[in-house]
Amino acid sequence: MQIFIDSADAKELAALAGSGLVDGVTTNPSLVAKAGGDFFETLKAICAAVPGPVSAEVVAQDAEGMIAEGRKLRQTAENIVVKLPLTPEGLKACKALTAEGCPTNVTLCFSAMQALLAAKAGATYISPFLGRLDDIGADGMELIREIRAIYDNYGFDTQILAASIRSGAHVRDAALAGADCATLPPAVFKSLYKHALTDSGLEAFLKDWKATGQSIL
Ligand code: G3P
Repeated sequence: MQIFIDSADAKELAALAGSGLVDGVTTNPSLVAKAGGDFFETLKAICAAVPGPVSAEVVAQDAEGMIAEGRKLRQTAENIVVKLPLTPEGLKACKALTAEGCPTNVTLCFSAMQALLAAKAGATYISPFLGRLDDIGADGMELIREIRAIYDNYGFDTQILAASIRSGAHVRDAALAGADCATLPPAVFKSLYKHALTDSGLEAFLKDWKATGQSIL
C-alpha cells in the first residue's frame, strides 16, 4: 500500500520524506489555511521535498473554473495531482482534465455510487473519507470494501486512496480491505512505528550487549 501524508506543512513533510517511506502527499484548502503562507510557494516546496504525487485542490464551483484552476495548479510542478470535489461539476472537470493527461484525485467521497461515477469520469484516485463516516455512526471501512469490489468487478484502474484516517487501526483495516493508498496525518504515520514490545525488547538487547563489553565497529 502506498503511504501518503495528509498535510500542507512543507517543513514537516520534508522531515517525514526523510524516512524513505512516504510515497506522496494530499492537501486540502483547510490544511493549506492551517499551514499558512503563500499557496503556490508551499506547493512548490512540498513537490520538491516529496517526489511522489502531491494533490492540490481546486476551489471553483463550476467545471470551467475547476479546469482553469487545475491547469494552473498542474503547472506548479510535474508531480501535482489536481484534486476535485465529488460533484457533477467536479466530475465534468475530472473527465476533461483526464483527457488532457492530467492526474486527478476526486475527493469528499462518501458512497460507493459516488466512487463508481468518479471511476467512470477517469479519476486517477478516489478519496473515500473513512473517519468522517465513522464520526456520523456509519462504517467507513465498509465503503472501502464496497469500492474495491466494484472497481475489481469492472476493471476500473482508479486507485482507492483511503482518506480521513484517524488511527493505525484505520491504516491496517484499509490495507486489509485492499485500498491502494492511504493518506495519513503526520501523527498517525509516526504512530505506525510504535509498539511497547519493540521498545522493551530493544532496551533489553542493548543492556545485555553492553554487558559483553564488545563493540561491532
Ligand atoms: O485530505 C482529506 C481528508 O483526509 C481529511 O481528513 O481528518 O479532515 O476528516 P479529516
